[in-house]
Amino acid sequence: MNQFLLAPSILSANFARLGEDVTRALTAGGDLIHFDVMDGHYVNNLTMGPMILKSLRDFNITAPIDVHLMTKPVDIFIPAFAQAGATFITFHPEATNHIDNTINLIKKFGCKAGLSFNPSTSLHYLDYVLDKLDLIVLMSVNPGFSNQKFISSVMNKIYQVRNLIDRSKFNVLLEVDGGIKISNIVDIASAGANIFVLGSVLFDSLDYKLVLNSIRSKLNSVFLSDCV
Ligand code: DX5
Ligand code: ZN
Repeated sequence: MNQFLLAPSILSANFARLGEDVTRALTAGGDLIHFDVMDGHYVNNLTMGPMILKSLRDFNITAPIDVHLMTKPVDIFIPAFAQAGATFITFHPEATNHIDNTINLIKKFGCKAGLSFNPSTSLHYLDYVLDKLDLIVLMSVNPGFSNQKFISSVMNKIYQVRNLIDRSKFNVLLEVDGGIKISNIVDIASAGANIFVLGSVLFDSLDYKLVLNSIRSKLNSVFLSDCV
């Protein structure tokens, strides 16, 4: 059975009114929040730290939050994001020295572990850790900025990871991050994604509910009533 989750990416939200904007995105039908952390080192941009995550939790945001760490190093940030209220902590394998240790650290702090791949990062990093992961995030743009064009060669990677997950006995979610629009979401779902990160397509619109409803009805029309 397909179960699709829509993940508003607050990189595109209004930072001056972040709490209200996140609430609006959830009320309009977002399932979980995608929280992009950029350090000006792993990527050429700076965004949010654990204090902002904690502020959202204090603002009564109770939805799951996927913290997407685009940082190098990784491990030093895990305790603070876990304590601030992260549900998932997702990192890039080439940004840490010891992938297995980093996954263990995330779990030790009570969070679910995700591994994220840039468009050109090899999937071989999955070889010995698939059983320990809760989430795989395939980047379909180069990390750093919202509102970029979906890189079409990633479509094949989505199929590959879907096959890998299905052939294993493990329960791993597959999220696609970057350049998702109403026009390509059905293809991305058909390739095997369950979680769709929605940045500019959602927050640059005037009516969040209209966008999320259009996406859900598009997915429903193709995949019957499997949407949650
Ligand atoms: C890019 C981020 C994405 C970004 C997606 O580095 O990881 O989460 O917010 O934004 P859109 O949907 O506009 O591509
Ligand atoms: Zn992201």
